[in-house]
Amino acid sequence: MLPEGVAIDPLTGAMSSSTGEYSKRLSEFRGVYRDSAALEKMLAERGDIETYRVVEHRQPGSDIFFGTTTMAPGKVGYEYFMTRGHYHERRDRGEIYYTQSGSGLLLLQSRQGDVRTVEMKPGTCAFIPPDWAHRSVNTGSATLVFVWCCNQDAGHDYAEIAARGMRQLVLDRNGSVTLAPNPNY
Ligand code: PA5
Ligand code: NI
Repeated sequence: MLPEGVAIDPLTGAMSSSTGEYSKRLSEFRGVYRDSAALEKMLAERGDIETYRVVEHRQPGSDIFFGTTTMAPGKVGYEYFMTRGHYHERRDRGEIYYTQSGSGLLLLQSRQGDVRTVEMKPGTCAFIPPDWAHRSVNTGSATLVFVWCCNQDAGHDYAEIAARGMRQLVLDRNGSVTLAPNPNY
C-alpha cells in the first residue's frame, strides 16, 4: 500500500481516483417514502431519476476507506430525498461525514430509541458513534455532497430501517424542515 492524495470535486463528489461506485434511483424507494402516490407521480413525470450516488476509494488490506455521497435535491410528497439509512454490521464501528456542499440533516437513532440530528453544511464534520443508525437527508435546494470515512469491516445492516424506516420523518412543512414521528413506531 502506498500513500495517495485524492482530489474530490466538492460540487459533484467526483473523485480523481476511485475503486467503485453505485447510484440509487427513485424506483428503488417504493415503500420507503410514505407518500406512494407522490412517488408514482414523480416516476411518471420525471422517469427513474438518480436520487443519490456513492463513490468509494478502497485500498485492499487497509483498515479504513472513504468516499463521497452525492444527493440530488427533491421531495417525495413532503419528505425530502434521503438515503436508505443503516446500522453498521459491526456494532463497534462508527463513521464520520464531512459535508462539502449543499445542506442537509443527518438523522441518527440509537438501538435504545434515542434520536439525534446533526446539521450538514459545508465545513461541518459529523461524528456517527458506533451502533447509531444514520440516514442523510437533503433538505436544501442544491446538490448535497459529503465525504464519509469508516472501517472497511464496518458493513451495512439495512434490515431494521428497511422494515419500518427511522423513528422520525424529515418533512417540509410550509418551507421549514420539520421532524415528525414515524407512525410505524
Ligand atoms: O457508509 C455510509 O454510511 C455511507 O457511505 C452510506 O452508505 C451512503 O451515504 C449511502 O447511504 P445508504 O447506504 O444508507 O443508502
Ligand atoms: Ni454508515
